[in-house]
Amino acid sequence: MAETVRIHEVGPRDGLQNEPGVISVARKVALIDLLSRSGLRDIEVGSFVSPKWVPQMADTDQVLAQLTPVAGVRYAVLVPNMRGWEGYLAARRLHFLPDIAVFISASEGFSQNNLNCSVSESVARLRPVVAAAAEAGVAVRGYVSCVTDCPFDGPTAPEQVADAVALLRQVAPMPISLGDTIGKGTPDRVGAMLEAVLAVVPAAELAGHFHDTGGQALANIDVSLDLGLRAFDSAVGGLGGCPYAPGAPGNVATEAVLELLDQRGFETGVDPAVIAQAAEMAKGMR
Ligand code: HMG
Ligand code: MG
Repeated sequence: MAETVRIHEVGPRDGLQNEPGVISVARKVALIDLLSRSGLRDIEVGSFVSPKWVPQMADTDQVLAQLTPVAGVRYAVLVPNMRGWEGYLAARRLHFLPDIAVFISASEGFSQNNLNCSVSESVARLRPVVAAAAEAGVAVRGYVSCVTDCPFDGPTAPEQVADAVALLRQVAPMPISLGDTIGKGTPDRVGAMLEAVLAVVPAAELAGHFHDTGGQALANIDVSLDLGLRAFDSAVGGLGGCPYAPGAPGNVATEAVLELLDQRGFETGVDPAVIAQAAEMAKGMR
């Protein structure tokens, strides 16, 4: 039997947060509802972050209220601090319990520019969020950004990533997504980073989150598969871009990842025909 790989669709969050235009709640919900019928089991749909920092996600409460949850699909939102957790609590409906994701950076420069605080301060801010989520029975995923390069500090040492992962896992034993935030990673450097992280966390607890800025995302997924990773984040239609590289591609496209996995003999349970339809819809949002 073919081995399974899990795809976390992040287009409605990581993709749309980087699109310059205003996209209505109705269009976001239409995209999420279509993705929900594709066989995907994980869809990240928004963020409870400051609307001054990321205006595109300011309507996440309405998106959660209006999407049609499909059984077997887990929906997730980013929550950086207790203010975000309060937003999450106010927005969620009782019959529908989205997961949350917390996020830190492996580099100080990105932490300051993305979260307005140091890495250790960001961990202190998310600690009560993770405790509240545990109390409420809400599943938590962790992100570590800048796993190969930081737009402010330059290359990230593999040990720095392993340290950041360990820091998050000291808060609680959560699965971790490793973000090549600016898509500068190459297979060699991703491989070295993964070797360091795998000394701290087993592959089954990790996901690869590759942006395709440098056109290396599929090659980076390839090497991650070789090292045992079986979960990847992607954005339908390659939604999004990179604030540090105007005009560059966004997250690796879900349809391209499906094709690679199919070629390598992995199963995902995701219907490429529905994803192709969603990719068309997503491209209309660019
Ligand atoms: P801050 O300014 O330091 O926060 O921002 P603060 O606590 O000093 O509060 C300032 C104001 O923001 C206050 O409002 C707060 O109420 C409000 P005011 O009194 O001025 O009217 N505020 C909030 N409002 C809504 N929701 C909240 C919230 N928190 C405070 N949660 C903060 C700190 C974290 C809020 C800010 O830095 C922020 O929102 N950053 C956004 C970060 C973000 O969403 N980045 C993109 C996602 S991460 C990513 O894309 C990487 C990833 O894809 C993986 C990869 O690729 O590497 C995951
Ligand atoms: Mg990202």
